[in-house]
Amino acid sequence: MADYLIAPSILSADFARLGEEVDNVLAAGADVVHFDVMDNHYVPNLTIGPMVCKALRKHGVTAPIDVHLMVSPVDRLIGDFAEAGATYITFHPDASTHVDRSLQMIRDAGCKSGLVFNPAAGLDALRYVMDKVDMILLMSVNPGFGGQSFIPATLDKLREARALIDASGLDIRLEIDGGVSAKNIAEIAAAGADTFVAGSAIFNQPDYAAVIADMRAELAS
Ligand code: DX5
Ligand code: ZN
Repeated sequence: MADYLIAPSILSADFARLGEEVDNVLAAGADVVHFDVMDNHYVPNLTIGPMVCKALRKHGVTAPIDVHLMVSPVDRLIGDFAEAGATYITFHPDASTHVDRSLQMIRDAGCKSGLVFNPAAGLDALRYVMDKVDMILLMSVNPGFGGQSFIPATLDKLREARALIDASGLDIRLEIDGGVSAKNIAEIAAAGADTFVAGSAIFNQPDYAAVIADMRAELAS
């Protein structure tokens, strides 16, 4: 069985109680903290930066923190996030002028690296850098907001990405982000994803453990 990871997106958490929210969702069975960074330039929204990541580490969060950069330029935030305790740092290739350099900077800073693909983007940017990524993240909504509907065409792209990963023989996680819930997670896993971001599906429910248990039950079915 695949090693599935559930990564709640704290974008939908209560920011006034963020440390507690992260503690609660990890206690409820989450594996990874998905941390959405938006700059009101690459995407039309503004969220959180390295200081908040650092604050979560200081608060005692030891789980992997998966920093999804929706910012342009990319490079000048890499060192700050590495220092703040990021585990993964992923970025959109169209947001960086020198993709290979940005990937190398992430690994040189001691983090795991990844590329993120918007719904309309093909996977061509991976071709010459497969050996420099630890994660491929496919957006199943247009980035910028939580609570949007899963775009079904992403399932074909997941199958394509899974085939690329398998053919490479490399240890690369395949993450999906946007509109994921217990209702569609099994279909998404069948298409090849192994890491599942879910924001509103988890944080908009009162019982995080129940939602995560539902997701795991669907993944096991
Ligand atoms: C969107 C973010 C997502 C978002 C997912 O730009 O990258 O991580 O929080 O939210 P849901 O799960 O509600 O679609
Ligand atoms: Zn995200």
